[in-house]
Amino acid sequence: MNNLLEKFVALCKRRGIIFPGSDIYGGLAGTWDYGPIGSIIKKNLKDLWWHDMVQLRDDVVGLDAAIMMNPKAWEASGHVSAFSDPLVECKICHLRFRADKIDEIAAHTKSHDGLTTDWTEPQQFNLLVKAYLGVIEGKQSEIYLRGEITNGVHVNFQNVVKSTRVKIPFGIAQIGKAFRNEITPGNFTFRSREFEQMEVQFYIKPEKQEGDKWFEYWKKNRMDWYLSLGMKKENLRLRDHDDDERAHYAKAATDIEYNAPWGWSEFMGIHNRGDWDLSRHEEYSGMNMKYKDPQTDEEYTPWDIETSAGVDRSLLFLLLDSYSESEGRTVLKLSPKIAPFKAAVFPLLANKPELVEKARGIFESLKPDFMIAWDDRGNIGKRYAAQDEIGTPFCITVDFDTLDDDAVTVRDRDTGKQERISIDKIHEFITGKIS
Ligand code: GAP
Repeated sequence: MNNLLEKFVALCKRRGIIFPGSDIYGGLAGTWDYGPIGSIIKKNLKDLWWHDMVQLRDDVVGLDAAIMMNPKAWEASGHVSAFSDPLVECKICHLRFRADKIDEIAAHTKSHDGLTTDWTEPQQFNLLVKAYLGVIEGKQSEIYLRGEITNGVHVNFQNVVKSTRVKIPFGIAQIGKAFRNEITPGNFTFRSREFEQMEVQFYIKPEKQEGDKWFEYWKKNRMDWYLSLGMKKENLRLRDHDDDERAHYAKAATDIEYNAPWGWSEFMGIHNRGDWDLSRHEEYSGMNMKYKDPQTDEEYTPWDIETSAGVDRSLLFLLLDSYSESEGRTVLKLSPKIAPFKAAVFPLLANKPELVEKARGIFESLKPDFMIAWDDRGNIGKRYAAQDEIGTPFCITVDFDTLDDDAVTVRDRDTGKQERISIDKIHEFITGKIS
């Protein structure tokens, strides 16, 4: 593993950010558990996404569809026949690799040193994860765990149109788990078998000009969003898909890529899905999936411009991008908006009851509105270091002067600068940093 990635994975385990799934049983490849710190960061990221996509917009509504769906929905969406990766198999040990992962194949070939490794011809391998519902196993009860969260949105298109005041153009946002039988999970959480996605399906008039306009709009909108979270511009880029790499549903596709320790990698995608999904669901369900314009009575099958981001991948790249080391210190320079704790409160000395009481009062007064950490162990230097490693932007220390002037020392994570702030201004100070 790459050196930076190795250190980062160790940090995630040491500080309760991400643990391997089923750790005490030797793990389960492609699954990860978010710890006490990681689960807060992940929730902050999802909440912020929802806030910006649904709460702040009047053209997007939310949805939370079931993970398990009637298997016909997956036939309609094309996933049963076309959601697959080409695989090759090593004829010596029968391990399988994605045929396009030339480096992994070469490394595996070398691992059999001396022996001539032969590979099978590429074969398509479906990525949908199967499950059985009900008491009898077999074809009748076979279902799929959703391979993308998208289908639950499309099948509810008419429910949403009829139950809300949306008018085209409008979007439906959703966040939730997806499952893929990835052949080679790897690069930490980058390619997992269970992961979360956050998506907007944005329905528009079925016209090329509209399609191009909204496709460009969402590319810029999403790139700006990640930049607003403090990601470094030089580590992000847009890449259009070639004709032969587009998913079966896409007319056009662009990825936002991140300059990961293992090379430029897909971060999220913007796809013009055309009328693929609604038309296919109309065909397979026999239900009308068309939209009737309330002003003109014009009836048509809308196109869908989709923005689809992995929650886990977004988190991984936000964390990697914020990782910094100087003079032996590791600091996660995370945006205060997604940092797990907005501030930490310390009494200068843990054995001075008057300092502890004062600090405790500040801690209790801030807690209802912000996630705040408390630490009274060791010396101040060690406490700063521990908070830096989980990205806490501000450390608030109550010292002996506080007892006289009702002010505290606030230390900034990124600059190390300390300023004196009156206790009654702390709430306002933190609010200003996260809005
Ligand atoms: N609904 C469209 C869709 O699912 P995708 O490009 O297959 O498109 C969208 O996936 C995003 O989901 C990716 O850009 C990535 O962030 C995330 N993703 C896909 N497969 C993943 C995996 N195996 N592990 C983690 N994240 C994944």
